[in-house]
Amino acid sequence: MTQHRPTTLMTGATGFLGQYVLKELMQRGRRVVALLRSPLQDSRHRLAGMMRPLGIEINDYITTGQLLLREGALPESLPDGEWGPTDDILACAASLQLFSNGNGEPYKTNVEGTRTLLEWADRHHVTRMHSVSTAYVCGTHTNVIREVFHTRPPSFQTEYEETKWVAEEMLAQWAGDNGNVLTVMRPSFIIGDSNTGYTTQFGGFYQFARVLNLMRSEFGESSNGDIAHIPHRIPGRPDIQIQNLVPVDYAARMIAEIILDPACHGQIYHLTDPNPPTWAVFKTYLEQYFRITGGQFVDSDTLPPDKTMAESLLFEKYDLLLPRLHHQPHFDESNTRRLRESLGIKYPAFTQERMALMLDYAASQRWGQGAARRHARSVHTPG
Ligand SMILES: NC(=O)c1ccc[n+]([C@@H]2O[C@H](COP(=O)([O-])OP(=O)(O)OC[C@H]3O[C@@H](n4cnc5c(N)ncnc54)[C@H](OP(=O)(O)O)[C@@H]3O)[C@@H](O)[C@H]2O)c1
Repeated sequence: MTQHRPTTLMTGATGFLGQYVLKELMQRGRRVVALLRSPLQDSRHRLAGMMRPLGIEINDYITTGQLLLREGALPESLPDGEWGPTDDILACAASLQLFSNGNGEPYKTNVEGTRTLLEWADRHHVTRMHSVSTAYVCGTHTNVIREVFHTRPPSFQTEYEETKWVAEEMLAQWAGDNGNVLTVMRPSFIIGDSNTGYTTQFGGFYQFARVLNLMRSEFGESSNGDIAHIPHRIPGRPDIQIQNLVPVDYAARMIAEIILDPACHGQIYHLTDPNPPTWAVFKTYLEQYFRITGGQFVDSDTLPPDKTMAESLLFEKYDLLLPRLHHQPHFDESNTRRLRESLGIKYPAFTQERMALMLDYAASQRWGQGAARRHARSVHTPG
């Protein structure tokens, strides 16, 4: 009789975070059934291409039976589970579309998809679910955000956040009703690999940096010397911690550690920067990287009137990011910190050098415009 190998059904393996989590699970010997969208051959090819730079040849794992690929989509089609018992489900797929635009998303994947995944779990007697949510299910709540389920927040900044919150509610009910075990992992904004800068997503932070790059090239030419002096006002306070950015490799490592240790199950984990940079630090890093000076904070929540041309360029995008930049939740990450410390993992802090690594990589990929990758989503800031 062959021995049962613990098996995880995973959605979202072809995603930015998913590919890193899959790598971690493969390297640790976990058997994974990855749900890929149709046509399966195309998705398999795409997955192979994205795993290769991470040092994983998926065919090696498929051959040994450690990795199984099955076609399906949320919410409409899930495989029949012919591979045998499934020990747990890792729900990593999501629609990162911020607002509805007539295509049914993000509701369809995030809410309906979660419902069908839970039904699948019940039908197949799966009692453990690991769900990747977002730290921003806190909606517009500020102050300290704990690793607990939130009662309904007053409002959400995006429909994406709201759908992720609704999904958490459904998951919590599933766990509460049936004595199932639910683990929720909530990253903040995911950025590139802390060691290489590698990313397939170019929204949010990258978008902002890209505009500074443009500003430097359009308005920095007449400056003497290397550093461009471009006077521009920045609405906001220098001392606030504006962005919580978490490197993809760290988030994936923590997710894998949590999944592989049943003692970690049944909790909520904030996968967030424990000490995010202030606006002032962020500004200094960016100014040093792009060799720009001239930015002055103005104590205001709104964009200044009578914009200069440089400010217009900057604020065209800044406007898009404004709600995020003025939203300052502080994410408590006690559960994650305990685990990190017990494993001896050091948080890869957002330093000048690390930011430069991220931006060098993004620039080498023309800020996501170059390779027309399916996952080069440059227009949104999911979180
Ligand atoms: N990226 C962030 O900054 C961030 C921050 C916080 C939380 N999160 C959460 O982290 C998780 C992973 O995000 P990500 O950044 O890896 O997203 P991503 O790069 O956009 O990947 C999304 C993944 O979900 C799959 N997917 C989407 N809709 C699906 C559907 N209807 N049926 C089946 N599969 C579907 C995609 O498949 P295809 O490749 O076929 O499209 C892809 O594998 C999500 O739960 C997201 O909410 C992300």
